[in-house]
Amino acid sequence: MRPEEIKRVACVGGGVIGSSWAIQFAMKGLDVTLYDINEEQLAKSKAQMHKSLDALEQFKAITPERRAEIAGQVKLTISMEEAVSGVQFIQESGPERLEIKQSILAQVEEYASSDAIYASSTSGLLVSDIAAQADHPERCVGAHPYNPPHLIPLVELTSGDKTDPELLQTAYDFYQSIGKEAVLLRKECPGFIANRLQLALYREVQDLVMRGVCSVEDVDKALVYGPGLRWAIFGHNMIMQMGNPGGLTGMVQMLGNSGDRWLADMASWTHQPDNWAEVAQPGVDKEMANFPDYVGHTNEECAKYRDQMLIELLKLHRKL
Ligand SMILES: NC(=O)c1ccc[n+]([C@@H]2O[C@H](COP(=O)([O-])OP(=O)(O)OC[C@H]3O[C@@H](n4cnc5c(N)ncnc54)[C@H](O)[C@@H]3O)[C@@H](O)[C@H]2O)c1
Repeated sequence: MRPEEIKRVACVGGGVIGSSWAIQFAMKGLDVTLYDINEEQLAKSKAQMHKSLDALEQFKAITPERRAEIAGQVKLTISMEEAVSGVQFIQESGPERLEIKQSILAQVEEYASSDAIYASSTSGLLVSDIAAQADHPERCVGAHPYNPPHLIPLVELTSGDKTDPELLQTAYDFYQSIGKEAVLLRKECPGFIANRLQLALYREVQDLVMRGVCSVEDVDKALVYGPGLRWAIFGHNMIMQMGNPGGLTGMVQMLGNSGDRWLADMASWTHQPDNWAEVAQPGVDKEMANFPDYVGHTNEECAKYRDQMLIELLKLHRKL
């Protein structure tokens, strides 16, 4: 199958991630079916989708007419047969439990065409395990999104021991064709790429605060108004490349081993501080109290500001 032959997509599991995937696919003009286990869950999926569409409309990423079109592209169902019959691509976003993922795959295989690609949003399970009892393990890939998938372009692709490499390539090309930025893991690796980067940084955040080097508020400020601004544009290798007339090589030569002393002093623990929330929560509360009014002072206000900024950034990245 070629990526351009993918016209119909099923989202299986319509929670936080599945309902966002449905919007992503529908925004790209694909016909989407969204399956969940009962009407109650499906009503939640619908509400979640409309909340996401509200933000897109409010911050002028879509017009009201476009919003109606996108919503109209998604058909909600509690029938697995209706959801996956005749689709070329299945995005599974059920609960993160191996036995549930395996049972979802078994149900999908009853009704889906055997050459439909099956992509699991799993955050940490192995595709080989999910597909262990599958009739067609070759069509199974891991496709880990970053929440919310309809806004964050990243998708991390993994394969199982029986995944067909050609099919993995098709999945990669398909995601790219709908505006995602796919990255491929060449080996199994817990936490994939992005969550590992995030955790490595967060260990240092925690350590700096626990050691009394700086406040919670200042470590966040140092990130947002320093490297965070650049990282929203380029990855760190590119930052190195642009830091010196000799590119990354020049930068490495210029810095030499000067960072080794910092590395020796940096956190290397493998168990996160048990009392971190106790230490950090008052700091975050103070940080929120000190924000300017246009950012907000409550979780809800700050989340709205985050969504607005995210949408503006994505427009600058030509992703919306
Ligand atoms: N939340 C995140 O930030 C995030 C990010 C990346 C990946 N993921 C992964 O995405 C997947 C879904 O996570 P989520 O946060 O959307 O969870 P969620 O709990 O919000 O949604 C799970 C959905 O699956 C449905 N479900 C339950 N049993 C099912 C079944 N047998 N068949 C089909 N659907 C079923 C539930 O009703 C629910 O709507 C997980 O594998 C998770 O690891 C989550």
